[in-house]
Amino acid sequence: MSLITNLNGEPYVEGIALHAIADRFGTPCYVYSRAALTAAFDAYRAALATRNARICYAVKANSNLAILNIFARLGAGFDIVSGGELARVIAAGGDPAKVIFSGVGKSRAEMRQALEAGIHCFNVESASEIDQLNAVASAMGMRAPIALRVNPNVDPKTHPYISTGLKTSKFGVAFDTARELYHRAHALPHLVIRGIACHIGSQLLDPQPAADAAGKVLELVSSLAADGIVFEHIDLGGGMGIRYHDEHVLATADYLAPLLARLAGREEMLCVEPGRSLVGNAGLLLTRVEVLKHGEEKNFAVVDAAMNDLARPALYDAWHDIVKVGSGGTAITPQHYEIVGPICESGDFLGHDRELALAEGDLLAILSAGAYGMAMSSNYNTRPRAAEVMVDGDHMHLIRRRETVAELLALESLLP
Ligand code: LLP
Repeated sequence: MSLITNLNGEPYVEGIALHAIADRFGTPCYVYSRAALTAAFDAYRAALATRNARICYAVKANSNLAILNIFARLGAGFDIVSGGELARVIAAGGDPAKVIFSGVGKSRAEMRQALEAGIHCFNVESASEIDQLNAVASAMGMRAPIALRVNPNVDPKTHPYISTGLKTSKFGVAFDTARELYHRAHALPHLVIRGIACHIGSQLLDPQPAADAAGKVLELVSSLAADGIVFEHIDLGGGMGIRYHDEHVLATADYLAPLLARLAGREEMLCVEPGRSLVGNAGLLLTRVEVLKHGEEKNFAVVDAAMNDLARPALYDAWHDIVKVGSGGTAITPQHYEIVGPICESGDFLGHDRELALAEGDLLAILSAGAYGMAMSSNYNTRPRAAEVMVDGDHMHLIRRRETVAELLALESLLP
């Protein structure tokens, strides 16, 4: 389902015209749909309805409090990777008892914070972390709940920057060492083993690698059970891909089916950690054309959003569809444009070679920008971060106001 619907040639998100959002809140501006977020969550819920399962939204994909709050109200758990994300989950009304803490480099302070909050589980990613966490829990007179994140050495067939389950990756513990590490953790007095975890990568279109990884995890579960180490949950991570352009994407239930088939008959709670597939297609970035430049070889449309607002094209050469908002200017002939931002880098592009009929002042929507958009934004070139707006039926809510330059400067000091 497309996020934008056209009503008499005027593009809407739910009951609100995109022009109305730009007029009221300015551009660049992220726009999200509550109905689309809810539908994406419901698709997971329906696919997992027949088994004991928990959907732990991967906060890193989009950590706006209003979005976390929507998922908390829907009963989600959360997958976090920092103390900051834990603070967000709690501020948004999320239940710490449904939080999983992933990440290769947790600080002692973050371990303490998460123990105090009473999270469900730490996904431990190294032998050192086992000892560090045991020591921190011991000093607090507590037992830390853990799973080991195992690296199954499966190629997820996605962009190398977002592949995480290969032997060469920094993530997880090597598959062949996992059994021994579980025994070591089991023997420590301040750890309690809750589960096992695995996440092989992101934007996965083929479910087979994830199913293969699940198969390997289950082999380990069986051999550990024979040793007397049993699990409450099996966490198979996130990673389901979304359609940015013309990718062949499976429905959530079809993507999950091969995984669920592997788990048939098992009692453990299944945890999943989806990020992109819950928020990616529920958001877009609105931007206005500042300048049209007709160069010798290329035409440029310089827009008011840039790589600091949406880093994915610059960072991964990622494609986002870009559409013109409104049908005005029908007399204009379409041309091929480089859609670029105002930042002083040639890597500052949002789309290459897009055929659009443009005039200066036109509004554009950069689609599928709900995941890893605002969450990866920066203040490069001292650009205040964009506003974020949630559409809910006929209402638009400002869920993060635009930063001001004064706020950016306020954190800095001159020398005495
Ligand atoms: N769990 C763990 C342990 C993860 O590392 C990630 C994502 C997820 C879950 C959620 O994966 P998802 O369902 O969103 O694929 N910035 C990149 C994506 C980085 C993904 C990092 N880890 C991008 O814009 O494509």
